Amino acid sequence: MTEPAGAKPRRILVTGGTGLVGRAIEKVVVDGEGRPDEQWIFVSSKDADLTNAAETKALFEKHRPTHVIHLAAMVGGLFKNIKYNLDFWRRNVHINDNVLHSAYELGAQKVVSCLSTCIFPDKTSYPIDETMIHNGPPHTSNFGYSYSKRMIDVQNRGYFEQHGCRFTAVIPTNVFGPHDNFNIEDGHVLPGLIHKVYMAKKTGTALSVWGTGKPRRQFIYSLWGKRTRSPSGKLLKPSWKPWTSRGDWSSTRRSRTGSSRKQPATAS
Ligand SMILES: NC(=O)c1ccc[n+]([C@@H]2O[C@H](COP(=O)([O-])OP(=O)(O)OC[C@H]3O[C@@H](n4cnc5c(N)ncnc54)[C@H](OP(=O)(O)O)[C@@H]3O)[C@@H](O)[C@H]2O)c1
Repeated sequence: MTEPAGAKPRRILVTGGTGLVGRAIEKVVVDGEGRPDEQWIFVSSKDADLTNAAETKALFEKHRPTHVIHLAAMVGGLFKNIKYNLDFWRRNVHINDNVLHSAYELGAQKVVSCLSTCIFPDKTSYPIDETMIHNGPPHTSNFGYSYSKRMIDVQNRGYFEQHGCRFTAVIPTNVFGPHDNFNIEDGHVLPGLIHKVYMAKKTGTALSVWGTGKPRRQFIYSLWGKRTRSPSGKLLKPSWKPWTSRGDWSSTRRSRTGSSRKQPATAS
């Protein structure tokens, strides 16, 4: 869709721009999905420690984004979550509060934050959707991460009701791809498995896989997220085709997390 004459350029700030998801968005933009009226700014903790309110505000004052894709977070796999629940809670709550409040103070038109399917109630029915996030406690293994992410939804509602801000969130499932964390202890399922297979082949030793093998998991390759243009020119509306561990294809929108899994999600 062509922009109306005189439309203001968009400055899109991506927090967590050096991570798995941020790098994938950057590649998609560089490969041609960016529009001429957009300026994309990808930032990392080197640009500002977002747990620090003053640094966060200074970053927003410097770039004055019209739109924000908020990805920055403390992220990790099952064992890191079990070990550092308190740190996950504190760091992510600070980051989210600082980013959302700076976006409000500096007048960003829209913020899209990133939640995760692993924050849903441990005991739930499937398929899951965004109305069910707060319907019960999350899995105990990652309660710190889960509650901190759920609070983004609470804050978004507050900023909308009190100030009319268009702050929203998406709920992707487990993502894998280039720039993933391949640390076996700290990372997610697929990069951990890839690393284990690599090590087993390299050293000629047996491959040992954790767990019962029974849970069904859903994964999205990071570079399969691509933008589709809506008539209203909305910023990002990717259609992703997740791959389930049963090896079949299904289509989903990222604001709806209908899943074919029968098992509850645990830490991603
Ligand atoms: N990976 C998944 O499977 C998955 C699934 C669902 C949702 N998500 C969500 O998607 C988002 C991105 O995840 P990801 O896998 O791309 O994470 P990631 O690879 O671990 O990257 C995290 C990003 O956050 C930045 N960051 C961390 N702490 C920061 C701080 N204090 N100040 C400023 N920046 C900070 C990091 O910057 P540095 O590089 O400087 O450290 C990095 O750019 C997260 O919100 C996550 O919860 C991820």
